[in-house]
Amino acid sequence: MANKNKTYNDDQTESRLVGGVAVDDDQQIELSLRPQLLREYIGQKKVKDNLGIFIKAARARGEALDHALLNGPPGLGKTTLAAIIAREMDAKIKTTAGPVIEKAGDLAALLTNLEEGDVLFIDEIHRLHPAIEEILYPAMEDFELDLVIGQGPSARSVKLDLPRFTLVGATTRPGLITAPLRGRFGINFHLDFYPVEDLQIIVERSASILNVEIDNGGARAIAARSRGTPRVANRLLRRVRDYAEVEYDGRVTTEVATDALNRMEVDRYGLDEVDRKLLTTIIEKFNGGPVGIGTISAAISEEKDAIEEIYEPYLIQIGFLNRTPRGRVVMPAAYQHLGLNPPEQRNSPQTGLFQ
Ligand code: ADE
Repeated sequence: MANKNKTYNDDQTESRLVGGVAVDDDQQIELSLRPQLLREYIGQKKVKDNLGIFIKAARARGEALDHALLNGPPGLGKTTLAAIIAREMDAKIKTTAGPVIEKAGDLAALLTNLEEGDVLFIDEIHRLHPAIEEILYPAMEDFELDLVIGQGPSARSVKLDLPRFTLVGATTRPGLITAPLRGRFGINFHLDFYPVEDLQIIVERSASILNVEIDNGGARAIAARSRGTPRVANRLLRRVRDYAEVEYDGRVTTEVATDALNRMEVDRYGLDEVDRKLLTTIIEKFNGGPVGIGTISAAISEEKDAIEEIYEPYLIQIGFLNRTPRGRVVMPAAYQHLGLNPPEQRNSPQTGLFQ
């Protein structure tokens, strides 16, 4: 599962017991590194500039911000942005996730407990059950909750007024958002992988919050292997710090970072064991592809969703993998990186039995 380690909560800073689930140290540190204001948020300039204007305008009119849909690969800061939106609007945030809302009553309870201007954040909104998604339509559009009370011939429907709230939805799979839901978001942002320069600034900022001494080269080395993803950069920083403290003098330099990352088998492109297994399996077992996602999932024992949502987007972004209608194909750059020979050109002149 893509999100097996995730906990959902609406108070991410105060408690170590979140939604009844204990938060481990790494998660606690990760939360402490999140920027809380738009001006502290590094990168994603277009999103930041536009969002800043929409927030300013809504505040000046004394209105709730329009509903916002955030899409992009995991770890790029969608949850962080939702919290920033609430903070910048001086509003409270309630956090939940598509797979967590099982019954219509769960969503009704969330909606009826909102106050004017509140932000309701629904992570993985593409995983909402269709019947539950329908409850959102009038809630988003008219701030009304249509409830059916009772069953059979005596069932009645009642309408409840809701406060004007802002729904922020996040998704790693924008293609799975239905048209009626998408149409009800007035704001739609796509987050891209971060360039190394931005990740370096994020690593330096995090190091200063964590009191880790780091130089330019050390921050750069971590940033370069973070697969364009701040969450990965912050995790690698914490692990590199462990090596720096145990085996060096605590300072993170190019040498320390490179040694630590090599020993964790995070390669020059930030690929880890699973990425490499995915690529080498397609190359060795399926002649480089095309091969279907279900077959890959079975061959490497990884969930299909995790492959599609976590591993593939970055491999596609760096030109190592291609999605074609007939399946996944490994690209020449990946062969080169792995030190393998690409297969013979398929349409090169035939030399064979009958020539
Ligand atoms: N931590 C995670 N994402 C960040 C971002 N975009 N800016 C600053 N710190 C971050």
